[in-house]
Amino acid sequence: MNYILAHKKIIMGVSGSIAAYKTVDWVRCLGREGAEVNVVLTEAAARFVTPLTFAALSGNRVYGAMFDSVDMEEIPHIKLAGQADLILVAPATAQTIARLAHGFADDLLAAIILASQAKIVICPAMNSRMYLHAATRRNLKILAEFGYKIVEPESGSMACGEVGPGRLPEWDMVRRELCAVFSPQDLLGKTIIVSAGPTHEPLDPVRYLGNRSSGKMGYALAAVARQRGARVILISGPTHIAPPAGVKTVRVQTAVEMRDAVMKYFSEADIIIKAAAVSDFRPARRSEQKIKKSNAQLNLLLAANPDILLELGQKRKKRAKPLVLVGFAAESENHLKEAQRKLEDKNLDLLVVNDILAEDSGFAVDSNRVTILSCGKEKIELPLLSKEETAGRIIDEIVGLLGGKLMVEKK
Ligand code: PMT
Repeated sequence: MNYILAHKKIIMGVSGSIAAYKTVDWVRCLGREGAEVNVVLTEAAARFVTPLTFAALSGNRVYGAMFDSVDMEEIPHIKLAGQADLILVAPATAQTIARLAHGFADDLLAAIILASQAKIVICPAMNSRMYLHAATRRNLKILAEFGYKIVEPESGSMACGEVGPGRLPEWDMVRRELCAVFSPQDLLGKTIIVSAGPTHEPLDPVRYLGNRSSGKMGYALAAVARQRGARVILISGPTHIAPPAGVKTVRVQTAVEMRDAVMKYFSEADIIIKAAAVSDFRPARRSEQKIKKSNAQLNLLLAANPDILLELGQKRKKRAKPLVLVGFAAESENHLKEAQRKLEDKNLDLLVVNDILAEDSGFAVDSNRVTILSCGKEKIELPLLSKEETAGRIIDEIVGLLGGKLMVEKK
């Protein structure tokens, strides 16, 4: 369930391209996000995928020809147009794009779009030469001028055997665009650095010191910030999750590498969120060879890693451009006392505290229960939420700071 798409009424308008088969799965994905989906097929689309398939997956009647209904109480294009929060046209063929650009209402999908005040998202998919033709370019420009969101197709090899732009994008990319359409664009023009995941501190070519961070919290923050219009630089320790679409991702292994990456982009950032679980120590010596099991005991000497957040808190004092600096605290006891100390010592604006001993919160799970501390304000205790929703609430607080007094920079 996605807190942005849940309960949204979405019409999926499918037009006649071989890529129509991909959108069958999108109906299932939207259903999993909690959206209610009605599918409208153009006559050509119904030749590629049957209405029955879409009906089975959406759980709703599928609409096709304009005059299918014999019920005069229900004029489908007016009824559907009035109910929808969003209309997603995918795949949008050159023919459908031309029809929409010129205001024709000669099929049900075009008529619904003309009659609707919903948000419209268009995913063009066609042969590259058709996509690059001046007529299609001009028609897409017209749709953009209407305020429709155009999701650019991907480049690659297509069903016709040619290579070029025109492939329907992957679901993750489209999902991000749908979430963005419903999100306030309150981070537009801002650059945000998010650090995520663990660090791995090598001991020898095989072993490392690490921790249980999966990167889920940091990646959720990066995704939500992107949806809200920010330019996002995600500095990630080793994880198994795919970075959110549209985010610049810098991969690192160790705390020292993470420090160098954060400092490289420091001057560009308006906001830095350090959700990464950085190892405080690293093996003082990295063995070039695999350490052999020669004794019953092995003593490891550890060296302290740089405290990146502490350094950022100091460094911000010398720069002219304001910065919102947000830390996380993973505590297992005296949560709030420890966190308050970190907030002050590290010169932060916000500190997000999670109880890492709670089963449903903290490391490697999909949900989190956090308390947000800030200087001079009441603490905010959030309930158990998905990490995505938690990220949204943290970003709400950051936006509040950006809009307010914080811009008198901390000393
Ligand atoms: O990745 P997930 O599985 O989703 O789990 C999320 C999380 C539990 C890792 C995340 O929500 C979290 O709490 N991250 C911070 C974990 C941590 O390192 O806490 P800390 O109390 O040790 O550090 C406090 C802050 O200082 C953190 O912002 C940390 O990034 C930063 N720090 C710590 C040590 C260090 N050497 N440099 C740092 O910058």
